[in-house]
Amino acid sequence: MNGKDPSSTTVLDLGVARLRNTKFFVDNGFQVYCADFKDLYKEGSKTEERLLELRKKKNFHQLIFPKEIYNIKQNFFDIILLLNVPTVMPIPVERICLILMIRRLLKKEWSVSLVF
Ligand SMILES: C[S@@+](CC[C@H](N)C(=O)[O-])C[C@H]1O[C@@H](n2cnc3c(N)ncnc32)[C@H](O)[C@@H]1O
Repeated sequence: MNGKDPSSTTVLDLGVARLRNTKFFVDNGFQVYCADFKDLYKEGSKTEERLLELRKKKNFHQLIFPKEIYNIKQNFFDIILLLNVPTVMPIPVERICLILMIRRLLKKEWSVSLVF
């Protein structure tokens, strides 16, 4: 990330849960796309509260997983976060599908780093 202008750096935070990491990147001026299952953003939850705050920011974008991820064009993201996500996925083949999907979305000059 060194030397990158945050305002033109696209970040996908996939599997956001309580949006902690999303908030960090939004607050630091990155163009942030958060993605998770629809059920996660239930009305009245702590997550919904944070979501409503984040929606006021122009550099925040919300995607419902998986449908809206497929509408994103290839090589769109500079950074993709999968923090604590593959480790909670019980079906191994789903993890592989997820990695293949993010490889398609990530800009070519970036490599995939997996941190578990
Ligand atoms: C342990 S939380 C990680 C939250 C956040 N990244 C963090 O580090 O604080 C795991 C997240 O992965 C999402 N998740 C679980 N299975 C998934 C799957 N098969 N595909 C995409 N996301 C999944 C869950 O909805 C949940 O938000």
